[in-house]
Amino acid sequence: MKRSFKRTLVFLCMASLAASGLAAEIPRLVSKDGRHALMVDGAPFLMLGGQAHNSSNYPAALKPLWAAIRDAGANTVEVPVAWEQVEPTEGHFDFSFVDTLVKEARQNKVRLVLLWFGTWKNTNASYSPEWVKFNNQRFPRMLDKDGKVFYCLSPFGEETLKADRKAFVELMKHIRQIDERDRTVIMVQVENEVGTYGLVRDYGARAQAAFAQPVPASVLAHKQPPVPGAASGSWSEVYGPYAEEYFHAWAIASYIEEIAKAGRAVYDLPMYVNNALRDPLEPMAPWKNNFGSGGPTFDVIDIYKAAAPHIEFAAPDIYSPEWAKVTATLDKFQRADNPLMVPEIGNAEGYARYAWLIIGRGALGYSPFGLDYADYSNFPLGSKLKDKAMVAPFAAVYKVFAPMQRQWAKWAFEGRTYGVSESEERTPQTIEMKGWKATVSFREWQMGEKHFWPDMKDLPPGTDAPNGGAAIAQIGDSEFIIAGQHARVKISGSGPNEGKSSMYARVEEGSFDASGKWVMERNWNGDQTDYGLNLPARPVVLKVRLGTY
Ligand code: DGJ
Repeated sequence: MKRSFKRTLVFLCMASLAASGLAAEIPRLVSKDGRHALMVDGAPFLMLGGQAHNSSNYPAALKPLWAAIRDAGANTVEVPVAWEQVEPTEGHFDFSFVDTLVKEARQNKVRLVLLWFGTWKNTNASYSPEWVKFNNQRFPRMLDKDGKVFYCLSPFGEETLKADRKAFVELMKHIRQIDERDRTVIMVQVENEVGTYGLVRDYGARAQAAFAQPVPASVLAHKQPPVPGAASGSWSEVYGPYAEEYFHAWAIASYIEEIAKAGRAVYDLPMYVNNALRDPLEPMAPWKNNFGSGGPTFDVIDIYKAAAPHIEFAAPDIYSPEWAKVTATLDKFQRADNPLMVPEIGNAEGYARYAWLIIGRGALGYSPFGLDYADYSNFPLGSKLKDKAMVAPFAAVYKVFAPMQRQWAKWAFEGRTYGVSESEERTPQTIEMKGWKATVSFREWQMGEKHFWPDMKDLPPGTDAPNGGAAIAQIGDSEFIIAGQHARVKISGSGPNEGKSSMYARVEEGSFDASGKWVMERNWNGDQTDYGLNLPARPVVLKVRLGTY
């Protein structure tokens, strides 16, 4: 078949598909060789996200949200949908906010991730309807060891589960109805930061009976005991001092599974849970009131896998800015059976550099919390600022990824991408790639090497706090896309190229156009490459080819 004829045929097919009003492919997660892609409209998608403030889930509050999202250049917005708002009276549903949200998201040309604030929001019942909140008889709260009512709704509340599930199913039906063709909504978070603070588990009658039962086979198959225990038997026999936390995780995950399963049965979008983290650097030990017990903390991801197969992944909400903690958390959540996605990270400037690391590592998405001009500052967990200056550091990163978002997601799925962000120690970091390694250093002047001027005290302006990072995609044997800022990247031979002399063939600065074609602006050479590739404060994208001699 002649090429032009083939092209015409493809065009005609696509035109008739559009004319027929057929739906775009439903978003889904695919995994291969331990890597993952979020498929949107049939191709890998990189979520450059922003999360709304909690109370921005009303039509009037959307205007300042859209303004921030536009300034950020985000392609996806995460917005709560609250049970209290969609079912204020039992059995009477009102999805008018969802309608407005979806319509305005389309006008703003962004996708949506909906956050279902149901039984649990940051562990408590605040977003459940009033008819749930204050009816402990029908919707029981957890009981402590003395039988005292605790703040958190019990995961053993049969009526609570039934009611939450019903509302969630109605929501999913509604989304299917209004969005099956456009697929503006690409994912759903089920509940928000579940778990319980201050109590390891429920001691109500149903919970007590379940705790005495043998550990389910699926949990035994997924979760090894951290300390020697029985191969099977009760929770205490198998998991010893970890039994209560694990049991609570299983109870909450099983509850969420029922909701996710029923929701996906009516409209099968990818679903996930988010997590208020436990300290990833603390030596592993049983719960001692140091994190929300039963939430999908890294130590119980296996239990969530066992109990909630309709949940695709557990995702970390990152509010500790230290590099060692961030990297340890990412290591623990990025697994062959658990795609990495960061649905929340602080919106303070210091968190922007982690976009290079997180996107570079092949995450499905990255989303600062409070990318929203609502009159609310999340300091000290986030920025003191509430205006363009808060958004600017994230916008700068998104600006370079946005034009290559689809390529990047594909490269990540193929295992070609790497990421680095500057630590508080400012020490260089090395990335091992195929046949090459990259050394990324920080606080370098663009000219020369530090040892040329051992007595020099001057430091590059704008580097008082760590803010550097780089993301690299190896797109060929000796070819790379390098994006980043405030960093120096040097590439040298490794593995089969170890010890070989090499030099740059081309170092093109440019960008990808809408069709995915590379557009070169200029070629870097001379001073701009003699001392490594010095990525300035303004993020740049380089297409780099090397050769050996
Ligand atoms: C994490 C929660 O998931 C969000 O809804 C919000 O409460 C933030 N914390 C505030 O930092």
